[in-house]
Amino acid sequence: MRAYIASTAFHVPADVVTNNDLVKRYGIDTTHEWIVQRTGIEQRHFADDGIGPSDLALPASLEAIERAGLQKDDIDMIVFATLSPEHAFPGSGCYLQAKLGLPGVPAMDIRNQCSGFLYALAAAKGMVENRTAKNVLVVGGEKHSAGLDLTTEGRTVACLFGDGAGAVVVRGTDDAERGIRWMNLGADGRYADVLAQQVWNSRNRPFIKANADGDGIVPKAAMWAHMDGKQVFKNAVEKMILSVMGMCMENQLDPQELDLVVCHQANMRINEYVRDQLGLPAEKVPNNLQKYGNTTAATIPILLSELERDGRLKQGMKVALVGFGSGFTWGSAYVVW
Ligand code: ACO
Repeated sequence: MRAYIASTAFHVPADVVTNNDLVKRYGIDTTHEWIVQRTGIEQRHFADDGIGPSDLALPASLEAIERAGLQKDDIDMIVFATLSPEHAFPGSGCYLQAKLGLPGVPAMDIRNQCSGFLYALAAAKGMVENRTAKNVLVVGGEKHSAGLDLTTEGRTVACLFGDGAGAVVVRGTDDAERGIRWMNLGADGRYADVLAQQVWNSRNRPFIKANADGDGIVPKAAMWAHMDGKQVFKNAVEKMILSVMGMCMENQLDPQELDLVVCHQANMRINEYVRDQLGLPAEKVPNNLQKYGNTTAATIPILLSELERDGRLKQGMKVALVGFGSGFTWGSAYVVW
């Protein structure tokens, strides 16, 4: 038996924030042209206060379960990938499990940032193929807007990210052709501090600085995500290209035989570079970051869901999934849809 992705779905909050809204609404000194030229991003969605990643994941999960032809009680494992969990603990998977009304069903979080969905998919594949679970709900969900410095000082990072969730159901198939045929994961912790948010720091006691009254104070440098964008860019293109090339070699595939390469949606220039190096036409390496920005663990399932809905992703297609992010971490999957 091999694991396969039985269904896809996604949910983004209603509030659309255009690049111009970053200027008008938040007073950030930036321009639509700067952001589009460097990243390709035109807008993103922000969730309201009070909404967390598990709230965004709930409608996506319910739809993925329905599209798989299942009832929610058929789900026997939840894997939730996120870098923006509601709290340091417990994980968002437990909050989602409660919202789905599935007490007793195991729920785990994967904290691997932009590669989180691929790490979660690998966990789900393993559990289905070794018969630990039959129907695994795999979710990538992020509420980034609460953790962005929406001021001119934070503009380099703030313009990149959006909120949203994508969900898939992973099940087993006896079809010898179909399924998640190969996966590869990687990490290089030497770059752990290059892209990070270090507000929670358990190296020190207390884990958040306290004032004389014992109340927490967060130093500004630790409050928001920080990033060396050029380091990220350089490593992302290298690791994503090597990952797909390695995938092709291991599976005796010419990159030209791939019907689709579904890249993590961080930056149009990263994905165009990957596409050019693989020698593939634009229609085989689709992007939707223009509409959603970088939704981290949610980018790949959101894009898969859009592609499936509009008929660009069909059963039998040879599909590569590839992502890279903070950690650094990366991963790829070869899927016959
Ligand atoms: N609007 C206007 N000006 C800006 C903005 C902004 N939003 N952000 C930065 N600038 C300014 C800077 O202040 C700087 O001005 P200065 O020259 O007067 O000092 C200038 O633009 C250049 O800044 P850099 O940070 O050097 O800009 P760079 O060309 O490196 O582009 C970017 C930044 C877009 C983040 C780029 O490094 C990049 O694409 N990196 C990849 C990072 C990425 O995609 N991360 C996503 C998360 S990781 C992942 O998912 C793979």
